[in-house]
Amino acid sequence: MTAVRTVPSSTGRVARPVRWWRRPWIAPLAAVTGVFLVTTLPRYVGLDPALSLVPTDRGPAFYPALVTHILAGSVMLTAGVLQLWPWLRARHPGVHRWSGRTYVAAALVTGLAALVTAQFPSAGAGQQVANTFLAVLLLVCTLLGFRAARQRRFAHHREWMVRSAALAFSIVTNRFWAPVLILVYAPGALTDGDVAFGDPRIEGAAVASAWVSWVVNLLVAEWWLHRGTSGRARRR
Ligand code: HEM
Repeated sequence: MTAVRTVPSSTGRVARPVRWWRRPWIAPLAAVTGVFLVTTLPRYVGLDPALSLVPTDRGPAFYPALVTHILAGSVMLTAGVLQLWPWLRARHPGVHRWSGRTYVAAALVTGLAALVTAQFPSAGAGQQVANTFLAVLLLVCTLLGFRAARQRRFAHHREWMVRSAALAFSIVTNRFWAPVLILVYAPGALTDGDVAFGDPRIEGAAVASAWVSWVVNLLVAEWWLHRGTSGRARRR
């Protein structure tokens, strides 16, 4: 499978064909996202608060906002995988445009609903601030990426959308960081089955993972976007 980029690179030159093995992350990303959605969604599609992984007794606005953001978030992640797939982008630009619009619409709903859920934190102010920042940054990066595409500034479009996707997929990396940080803050809690909301050690882990999940993703995205640019720019 060979992907040929149809959008100009940031230098304005048309990029050379990209072989699939130069993009080895797309299949693992799709697989991890699929596993995340299949294991998460059953708890929420039946609209039964008792099945929720997190406590839902946080006022009447919380559960509707949580379910809205999870359903829209699932659409956003699915469209996000399609958007990041270089082969599909190059060979089927029409699909890229439509799944891009779907991604943007779903990101707006996810971000706005998450702005509501973030104001009812289960682990205090640190988690509230982390999630509020995440929601605002998701909205801002997505809207700037959409505007850049409408203005045909494709290099900027790509940069903002990579940042948006890094933030969107923080819920997936959270599934890695949360248990690691529980091991750090409350060693033994996972093996003893002693993970309880209200336990200050678990709250500490929840706050830390709320930050680490998106900050690390954003740092990796920035490295990805700017890797080698200084050396290449110097040579040019
Ligand atoms: C990127 C912006 C996002 C923000 C700011 C955000 C924010 C939040 C907040 C505040 C909660 C409640 C956590 C608590 O207090 O216990 C939550 C839970 C949840 N969110 Fe998001 N979220 C975002 C993206 C996503 C996406 C893309 C999905 C994908 C489906 C998602 C799926 C979930 C799920 C399943 C829960 C329930 C708890 C769990 O199973 O981990 N979120 N989110």
